[in-house]
Amino acid sequence: MLKVTIDGQTIEVPEGTTILQAARMLGPEVAPPAMCYYSKLETSGGYCRTCIVKVSKGSEKDPRPMPKPVASCRTMVMDGMEVQNKTSPELVEARKGVVEFLLANHPLDCPICDQAGECHLQDLSFEHGIESTRYEFERRTFKKIDLGPHIQLHMTRCILCYRCVKVADQLTPERYHGVLNRGDVSEISTYIEKSIDNEFSGNVIDVCPVGALTDKTFRFKSRVWFTKPVDAHRNCDTCSGKVTLWYKGDDVLRVTGRKDAFGEVADFICNTCRFETKKTSDWVIEGPRVIDKKSVISANHYLSDLKVPDFAYEVGEDYKKIDDTPKLLNPAAQ
Ligand code: SF4
Ligand code: FES
Repeated sequence: MLKVTIDGQTIEVPEGTTILQAARMLGPEVAPPAMCYYSKLETSGGYCRTCIVKVSKGSEKDPRPMPKPVASCRTMVMDGMEVQNKTSPELVEARKGVVEFLLANHPLDCPICDQAGECHLQDLSFEHGIESTRYEFERRTFKKIDLGPHIQLHMTRCILCYRCVKVADQLTPERYHGVLNRGDVSEISTYIEKSIDNEFSGNVIDVCPVGALTDKTFRFKSRVWFTKPVDAHRNCDTCSGKVTLWYKGDDVLRVTGRKDAFGEVADFICNTCRFETKKTSDWVIEGPRVIDKKSVISANHYLSDLKVPDFAYEVGEDYKKIDDTPKLLNPAAQ
């Protein structure tokens, strides 16, 4: 085991652990933000540089600090390593620069973007960005592209994190989209306008950290903080069938995978569960979803402060208690 200290907290981790993974073991408060790394996708990470940290001591054997910030998702822990994330003022300043670059071409269309409220770039700018922009040039713009029947691409919002490309490579039998061109003319595109249409393609929506890949069945239906997330499952031959349903009144507006404290889905779900089973009767309701991540979604209603009700609830206009027998819905809520 290797010992690493991150922002003053020490943890022992197995060999081959990255600094980001070690920081995540210590918890979301310590972990650096990550816009392109996704633990469920192999070879993700190394593109966005939001996860940079300062290595103030390389290892027990070679205590020299690393000369410049390193991407924590790509740097392995060494025994005795000391890392600074939030405790280094220079690092905090450097990350502001990274955020500024990510926002250089990003439109300020949060008021109409479906991802608002669960956008990692919005959170990143709020927590790690600067208040204003110094960018004076015209931003690049693109026309919206339909990627098959369920997904729409807003390339203007894309930060080129490659997560959707990894999903297509690793979850679907064939990939028809990727990053075309290089440098500041790079863009996500389908090869010869082919559509993305296979049973796991909808997962590109869940992994997209911004509103570049949107669910056409949910577009403009509601701000996400007006919807109520509920965990549910069904018997599905293709995927685990474990999802989150997002209700407004009695209607399921959308279905997504269940996301953890780092905004990553636990299980990738199939398109039938995501797009074609939107009636409450299709599902076994488990109970309100705890939104672990600091989020406007949990700030506004019953999930505030993670006070999850202990009872079984039925879905309706609001959550009504349907029996008085205390029933544990989520062990994490204890
Ligand atoms: S479309 Fe979304 S997931 Fe794909 S590269 Fe762009 S930001 Fe990343
Ligand atoms: S999360 Fe490490 S470079 Fe993007």
